[in-house]
Amino acid sequence: MTQDELKKAAALAALDYIKPGTVLGVGTGSTVNHFIDALTSVKGKIDGAVASSVATAERLKKHGIPVLELNAAGELPLYVDGADEATRHLHLIKGGGGALTREKIVAQASEKFVCIIDESKLVDVLGRFPLPIEVVPMARSLVGRELVKLGGEPVLRQGFSTDNGNIIIDVHNLKILNPVEIEEKLNQIPGVVTNGLFARRPADVLLVASASGVKILR
Ligand code: 5RP
Repeated sequence: MTQDELKKAAALAALDYIKPGTVLGVGTGSTVNHFIDALTSVKGKIDGAVASSVATAERLKKHGIPVLELNAAGELPLYVDGADEATRHLHLIKGGGGALTREKIVAQASEKFVCIIDESKLVDVLGRFPLPIEVVPMARSLVGRELVKLGGEPVLRQGFSTDNGNIIIDVHNLKILNPVEIEEKLNQIPGVVTNGLFARRPADVLLVASASGVKILR
């Protein structure tokens, strides 16, 4: 199976977690795009969705799924999103697509976070994938210096602006042995809007697709 077929298998497995008559939180990325496309089969059963990015909102609308503002929807029963890396403790690195801030907000507002990945993203220690950090543009150099002090190699994502009008710094070579501690440390740097570690609010369920099927980790 190709990686894209595995992404689709994980996405389809997430359909089982949808309860009829609810509003879903929907993440961003190529794995989630399979989930959005599959939502057409249950469209009549859900009241709508809260999107974690402009791209996701557009795709949902294209399929005729009502998109609600988070402030109007309140607490959500379910959030479905992909990840760039995940551990068996359900800690994640996210933000490869640059949507990490809205993703973290919607994840925090949700009762259950179901994360969908293919097996290539399951790791023992987070950090092989460069950690994305959304930064207010005027703080770029300051945040870069602070990241070097923490042992990382910050690289500006060229020509990229987030849905919130900020920049992304991708941090290479961070060995993330204690994700909760590092997430909190990064949150303390002035100018950091959001870092891509999802450890304080990890996933609740991880659906890992491989050639032998979709494994459920809790
Ligand atoms: C976007 C994300 C995505 O979930 C992550 O990048 C995975 O993307 P894909 O499903 O395309 O591999 O965090 O900000």
